[in-house]
Amino acid sequence: MKKKIVLTGDRPTGPLHLGHYVGSLAARVRLQESCRQFVMIADAQALTDHADQPGKVRENVLEVALDYLAVGLDPQKTTIFIQSEVPALPELTQYFLNLVTWNRLKHNPTVKLEIQQKGFGEEVPAGFMVYPISQAADITAFKASLVPVGEDQIPMIEQTVELVRKFNRLYRTGVLVEPEVLISSVARLPGVDGKAKMGKSLGNAIFLSDSSDVLAKKVKGMYTDPGHLRVEDPGKVEGNPVFTYLDAFAEDKAYVAGLKEHYARGGLGDSGVKKYLLEVLEAFLHPIRERRQEFAKHPEGVMQMLRCGTEVARESAQKTLLEVRRAMGIDYF
Ligand code: TRP
Repeated sequence: MKKKIVLTGDRPTGPLHLGHYVGSLAARVRLQESCRQFVMIADAQALTDHADQPGKVRENVLEVALDYLAVGLDPQKTTIFIQSEVPALPELTQYFLNLVTWNRLKHNPTVKLEIQQKGFGEEVPAGFMVYPISQAADITAFKASLVPVGEDQIPMIEQTVELVRKFNRLYRTGVLVEPEVLISSVARLPGVDGKAKMGKSLGNAIFLSDSSDVLAKKVKGMYTDPGHLRVEDPGKVEGNPVFTYLDAFAEDKAYVAGLKEHYARGGLGDSGVKKYLLEVLEAFLHPIRERRQEFAKHPEGVMQMLRCGTEVARESAQKTLLEVRRAMGIDYF
């Protein structure tokens, strides 16, 4: 049987955090065992809203690669590569851009939200406006049928599916593959401040690379149930990020169920729950941190790994580009 092809990626604008792990990294570590997996460091996409900070993007390419290796992505099983080093991607994007209307682009809900969050108003960079189409190129260039991402990326995959259908219909071909999104069961991890989403720019993230001390500080300062003032008061479990994290990371589900019950009944203080959460997170992050430090000692080795992955990715994407050009009848030589 042919292996399923998986493609996913991250913008290198900062180190990765627990939200990334729960939303997508955990699935990738699993999928690399059974699928042909490509993981892309989306530096070109990061530049769509960081054109003035290419240095920051470049630095974070290495950080993100270290995070990948630390959580257990294995370059023997997963092709890890740098987006801007694969020239077929912008070429595909150029052809795909003609198959989508400006009006459709303006209505992509994730892009709309990001425009608001970044305060672009009318002055949104054109490259940013069209990044969903470049993302469609990323996905289709590798003929990926599965894309493990966080919820916020669903509109991108929907746009990709529309584009694939349009391309295949218009050029009477089957060269492009319709992708499917894979969303994790824990759809979204809240921030330590209780906000709905953990985000690096929101200042509410626990990073995979945080030291024990930083982790302890963040857990101790976590938002809980603001109505839970005295230990003996009944506390709210639902929507309490401390319990959301325990659900995502604690292995002893029965123990967590007991804690929840006790908390809801009253008599269990926030500091007690946080102490346990800290143990759980430290046990999870400690080996990741150790592996990260080990890989970080050899940045040239990491860059070499990326170079090899990028060569493999270039070849795959170039093959699809030729098929696309042939389907369009613009294969001249
Ligand atoms: N947009 C994704 C993010 O912000 C990154 C990304 C770029 C991506 N190209 C992709 C994800 C292709 C999945 C597939 O995290």
